[in-house]
Amino acid sequence: MQARKKLYIKTWGCQMNSYDSDRMADILGPLGYDKVDVPEGADMIILNTCHIREKATDKVFSDLGRLRPHKDQKEKDGGKMLIAVAGCVAQAEGDFILERAPYVDMVFGPQTYHELPEMIVKATGERVINTEFPANSKFDSLPGAHGSRSASAFLSIQEGCDKFCTFCVVPYTRGAEFSRTVKEILDEAYNLVENGAKELTLLGQNVNAFHGEGPDGSVWGLGRLIREIDRIEGLERIRYTTSHPRDMDDELIAAHGDIEKLMPFLHLPVQSGSDRVLELMNRKHDAALYRDVVARLRAARPDLAFSSDFIVGFPGETDEDFEQTLGLVRDVNYASCYSFKYSARPGTPAANMKTALVRDDIASERLARLQTLINEQQRTFNQSCAGMTIPVLFERKGKKTGQIQGRSPWNQSVYVIAPDRLIGCILDVNISEGFENSLSGTVAIGEEYAQN
Ligand code: 5AD
Ligand code: SF4
Repeated sequence: MQARKKLYIKTWGCQMNSYDSDRMADILGPLGYDKVDVPEGADMIILNTCHIREKATDKVFSDLGRLRPHKDQKEKDGGKMLIAVAGCVAQAEGDFILERAPYVDMVFGPQTYHELPEMIVKATGERVINTEFPANSKFDSLPGAHGSRSASAFLSIQEGCDKFCTFCVVPYTRGAEFSRTVKEILDEAYNLVENGAKELTLLGQNVNAFHGEGPDGSVWGLGRLIREIDRIEGLERIRYTTSHPRDMDDELIAAHGDIEKLMPFLHLPVQSGSDRVLELMNRKHDAALYRDVVARLRAARPDLAFSSDFIVGFPGETDEDFEQTLGLVRDVNYASCYSFKYSARPGTPAANMKTALVRDDIASERLARLQTLINEQQRTFNQSCAGMTIPVLFERKGKKTGQIQGRSPWNQSVYVIAPDRLIGCILDVNISEGFENSLSGTVAIGEEYAQN
């Protein structure tokens, strides 16, 4: 019998990348590869990269530099270490990587990793680059999702994006918008729930643009898909991310009103509160549309909490534009947000715009002001949970000994002192305190869980 081989995967970026990394491990399992936690001595190393923001390529090269001695050592010991660069940096800069890092054996993008078995065979004789957008979807040949046996699992339902926001690399690295069929998604959903998932997060770069073929040949939207997934017995929570405000249709808004399993938390990026900047960003909506969508969603589900992404210092952004962003944040009142300073991404329209760049110190100052406001809102939201009893899905051990960590319906991290065997359960927790980034409390049932 052949010895099992060691596979080390490092994942950067979004949840789609985590999903892809799990699928790569699923493909490589039957070829004899088991996942390990350290790169030393591995037979295969995959860097699954992200290109969305600045310095992505630099980070990959510095990691590659660190891996090189491990590869040399492995060869000295008579073994072989294959190094692969995957994901969006590979898609965007494949040739450059092969040129600059001669010890990299394989480069492949997010749409071709299902060809890993063939690529590995090929890589024994030559260096492999595979950054096509193949006509046949990777989903046609991927094995069912097994990688994640946790209580909370990701399920990719849609990929790519046709929105072409002027700052964003996604339409170039992930390709055109594409939806999986309803049957494929349901098969995978049932499989994940059978394997213990209580929560499914439906993933896509523009997930609510989902328009998959239904069993009857008609096109289903995300609202209808969620209604069907809601019927899966044993599944208790449904989430989806990331959405575009323009694709929030009536059916999906209604689903938030009457599907209890659909969790009351929505990541709905707006990027800016200024119509002028939204136009420059080619977001295809104005601030009024965003506010209206938020209001309609809140009317459907009053306890719905929102998060968003913001970019500050976009070329041409004035103080007045930035004030409008702060105004929108105040009005919506977010539960949490991500905010970034604009960075030009090579190949995107904004990188070539003639509009005046915002001075870096001004952009930094705006970012700090925005983050102060966002942190305040987040702390207030978390503090408002103190004294409540809320269901928490426990996912993993906490940072401190004896502690376990879970998520509230509003996606907050919740820490309690309780035995590890409760990981995977949904239990009521009495929240004692809310902090800026988390909640703490005690499990409501049975004194034995409260302290030990
Ligand atoms: N500069 C700064 N932030 C960016 N994002 C995407 N592209 C850029 C860029 N060029 C942010 C957006 C997006 C999130 C995933 O990353 O806010 O929603
Ligand atoms: Fe990028 Fe999202 Fe805009 Fe698509 S909708 S181009 S993924 S920011």
